[in-house]
Amino acid sequence: MKKFYVTTPIYYINDIPTVGSAYTAIAADIIARWHRLKEKDVFFLTGLDENSQKTVQAAKKLCFESVQKYADMMCEQWQKTWKTLNISYNVFIRTTEQRHKDMVYKFFNKVYKKNDIYKGEYKGLYCEGCEGFLTEKELVSGLCPFHNTPPKHITEKNYFFKLSKYQNKILAYIENNPDFIQPESRRNEVVNFIKEGLKDISISRPNLKWGIPLPIDQEQTVYVWFDALINYISGAEKYWPASLHLVGKDIIKFHCIIWPGMLLSAGYKLPKQVFAHGFLTINGQKMSKSLGNAIDPVYLANKYGADALRYYLMREIPFGQDGDFSEKALVNRMNGELANELGNLLSRTVSMIEDYFKGTLLKGKTDKALQNELDLKLINEYMEKLEMHHALDEIFKFVRSVNRFVNEKQPWEIAKKDKGELRDILYSITDSLRIIGILISSFMPKTAEEINKQLGIKAGSLKDCKFGLLKKVNIKKGGVLFKKI
Ligand code: MSP
Repeated sequence: MKKFYVTTPIYYINDIPTVGSAYTAIAADIIARWHRLKEKDVFFLTGLDENSQKTVQAAKKLCFESVQKYADMMCEQWQKTWKTLNISYNVFIRTTEQRHKDMVYKFFNKVYKKNDIYKGEYKGLYCEGCEGFLTEKELVSGLCPFHNTPPKHITEKNYFFKLSKYQNKILAYIENNPDFIQPESRRNEVVNFIKEGLKDISISRPNLKWGIPLPIDQEQTVYVWFDALINYISGAEKYWPASLHLVGKDIIKFHCIIWPGMLLSAGYKLPKQVFAHGFLTINGQKMSKSLGNAIDPVYLANKYGADALRYYLMREIPFGQDGDFSEKALVNRMNGELANELGNLLSRTVSMIEDYFKGTLLKGKTDKALQNELDLKLINEYMEKLEMHHALDEIFKFVRSVNRFVNEKQPWEIAKKDKGELRDILYSITDSLRIIGILISSFMPKTAEEINKQLGIKAGSLKDCKFGLLKKVNIKKGGVLFKKI
């Protein structure tokens, strides 16, 4: 079985998830589910980046008796949210877990033995929002471009990692593997950054009580990014290397420069691909708790259903680009494609089978012209390129074709004349719905389940997306798939 290992970034726990953080998790879930449909050995990792100073500050602010208790409470919140959104992860890794700490030690010691770590002094800028060291050049009007806050000037005795030693190797890997960094624009951004010359990076911080102690100096803790990146191995050792790291565009350099450098030093394989998606924005500004414009994904899922939210996010915004979030646009898509087109197709089909055949439909002939309306190869190509918006567009073109087929064939007229022909028409429609159910199942797992339930069939995989596989079915009419707002 072919392996497919996909990850989300592990999230900071200074707050509960926003629709922005859910965006990466939903996209990763859809990709994981798609590869499961292809019957691959899929491993999907997500989790929490807990060893940050932001965790300590948040715990203090809420007067928690211990930082760990705060972290445990947050973990519950994040896992609950992912459950509401139907995120089908295989492992949930927390950086406060022992298995992670053990792996960080192991990894650090490998790099240390390679003579890639030395003691020095860091004098420069630090953004607490990014938990990152910044250069003057990266600032916009003196502020961190992602957090709109002024960075701190710090002078610290730190341990450094010889990232500069790996500059040429990282560049060669990027050049020899054109798919490694996607989309193209991000790849260029990273290549230009490397070509300006990589500096060694600080990988420890002094006098912090929360975090993983540095194996060679107990006065220091492992820098939170050096620690966090290793989660991709500690949570899934046997699946390494990752097939796909899904990340937001703000953390591309950590994943495409520092992480490969660390892996080269420690002697691990490099990930196959890092794909950076854009930001969900509100009136053009990144949605985030710290900017005060965040929306709770649980609120939206309770109001519209998780599937409608998942569909909207993937259909509305070309994956890789920024997109403005709008509840109105979500409602429009829900009323349009989901209720009017898909929901209506199912309910009219089920009603006709009940009315004309008492709910039992025997196998019939499939309509060749209707079959030709589905371009499965194209949908798969879009999914492989992570153009989820195009894949959905193509799937819903087919939903529209089936609705058109119903309108053109007018089964209610045929019912008066020819029961055999009527059966063939309804068979073509039902068989198409079965295939649509498979194709949308990665995006809208609950909706796909409901379609299968009403059609009385079992869930299929991608290889079942062939026409004519539907056998005799017993239909069971249920509620509407999507209630119009
Ligand atoms: N802890 C680091 C990641 C470490 S991975 C080894 C981190 N955490 S984060 O919580 O700040 O962000 C996690 C992910 O959520 C990132 O990919 C980030 O881009 C994404 N998003 C957070 N807000 C977002 C939007 N408004 N829009 C889209 N994605 C955004 O960075």
